Order: sequence, then structure tokens, then C-alpha cells
Amino acid sequence: MTILEIKDLHAEVANPDETGEPIRILKGVNLTIKSGETHAIMGPNGSGKSTLSYAIAGHPKYTVTQGSITLDGEDVLAMSVDERARAGLFLAMQYPVEVPGVSMSNFLRTAATAVRGEAPKLRTWVKEVKESMNELEIDPAFADRSVNEGFSGGEKKRHEILQLGLLKPKIAILDETDSGLDVDALRIVSEGVNRYAERENGGVLLITHYTRILRYIQPQFVHVFVGGRIVAEGGPELAEELDANGYVRFTAASRESDTDTAAAVGA
Ligand SMILES: Nc1ncnc2c1ncn2[C@@H]1O[C@H](COP(=O)(O)OP(=O)(O)O)[C@@H](O)[C@H]1O
Ligand SMILES: [Mg+2]
Repeated sequence: MTILEIKDLHAEVANPDETGEPIRILKGVNLTIKSGETHAIMGPNGSGKSTLSYAIAGHPKYTVTQGSITLDGEDVLAMSVDERARAGLFLAMQYPVEVPGVSMSNFLRTAATAVRGEAPKLRTWVKEVKESMNELEIDPAFADRSVNEGFSGGEKKRHEILQLGLLKPKIAILDETDSGLDVDALRIVSEGVNRYAERENGGVLLITHYTRILRYIQPQFVHVFVGGRIVAEGGPELAEELDANGYVRFTAASRESDTDTAAAVGA
């Protein structure tokens, strides 16, 4: 059993205007994810969801200023990005990066070697990749193409899930893996996530601002994320409420509490 624990996490990013103060984005996030659990974080654009995923994965631009992240008690914040991956954390990014000149097949094998600690045996590896690509309805020709270069949005997202299936992390963070997908791709990608969760008993953190993916991936826990923190938590019924009413109830409440805090500190 694996447990990822995030406690009172605060994070900021350097101001693009170099003379400006750093921009505070995360303002006290508390979240615990265990093996076999699926959590959904839902929140409006700009609420800090991607920043949370970057802080967990160790993106150098985002500085954690307070709080802790542990994986089975180990201090994740003290680990480098690749140590985090080896420890069993995986992030499917909202905007996957293109790596011209590196073929998909090379990339996948190198990543699997790094994460598993030894190179996968070539024969079983080729079979493994083929089967995974087949399940995700990815054309075998993609194996020779440069990582994400010229891929459509949907193709990039499928390849993120291909990595998920091959790297078999303990905890997977999927940032807007549903965005830009047509109905068929949404179903294929969702099935890939569900397969991972079942086969590996993985913990899933699904970040999204739409409820439509939740028809295919059923979270046991739903967290509403507004203004850099979780403002409400519940089960699947909370996602249905968001589907019907949007985030208004939560964004209004968050603004009030920010004003209260500002008043309390005399700002
Ligand atoms: N590198 C950055 N430089 C400046 N501002 C940033 C940076 N990253 C995020 N932000 C700001 O922080 C807020 C939260 O961004 P983000 O975490 O991407 O939100 P979400 O994923 O919920 O849409 C936004 O207002 C965004 O503009
Ligand atoms: Mg985002």
C-alpha cells in the first residue's frame, strides 16, 4: 500500500516581471491519496491545479514555501525530479513537451530503464509496447516519430497514457488528460487510466475542469479547488453538483474568505 500525503502545501512562482514579488499560487493544500483510490480535483481555470501537479513532480519554476509532501513517509520535496519518478510518482502534463530528434520508442525504453532500474529485456519489451499501443489504438508508426512532435492534442494525451501503462507508477497525476479529446479518444484514454488503476492498484489524481471525463473514470473522492486550495470535498455527487451549477458557489465563498484573511492580517 502506497500513500501520498500533502500537508499545508504553499507554493509560488517567480514573477515574470523580475522586479515584482513572487506570485503565490498554492495556499495550503491538504490531500491524501492511497493505492487503489481515484481522486478528482476540479476547479476553474487559473485556480492553481497545474501548479499543484508541478509542485508534486518537482518542476524547478515552482517553489514550495511551506508544507510537506511525503510518499510512504519519504520526503518527496527533498528528491530530485528523477528520484520522484523512481519513487513511483508520475505526471501526465496538461501540455506535454515535444522532444524533436528523440523517437517515441527510444524515449519509452529509456524512461522504463530509468524507472525500473534495469533495461527491460528487448523481446518482452517490444511485445509490451505493441500491446499497450494496440490497447490505446495508437498506430505502430508512432514508435519511430519524435516524441510529441507534430502530434495532435489527442495523440499527445494517448501517449501520456501509454507511458502510464508502461512505467506503472504507484501514484499517477493526470493534469487535464481529457482536454481537447473527441468522444472516442476520451473513452480510449479513460479506459487506459482504468486499466492502470486495476492492474497496478495505482492511486490516481485526476485534475480537470470538466465533469465529462467522470462518466468514464469514476472517482471515489472529489475535491473542489479554488484560489490555490481545496475548498470543498465529497464523493461523486459533488461532481454532479458542479456539472449542474458550475463553480460559482465556491468561487464567491473563496473570494470572501480571502477578503477575511486580508482584513485579519490588516492588509
Ligand atoms: N510560470 C508562471 N508565471 C507566472 N504566473 C504563473 C505561472 N504559472 C502559473 N501562473 C499563474 O498562476 C495561476 C494558476 O495557474 P495554474 O496552476 O496553471 O492554474 P490551473 O491549472 O488551475 O488553470 C494562474 O493565474 C497563472 O497565470
Ligand atoms: Mg492547468
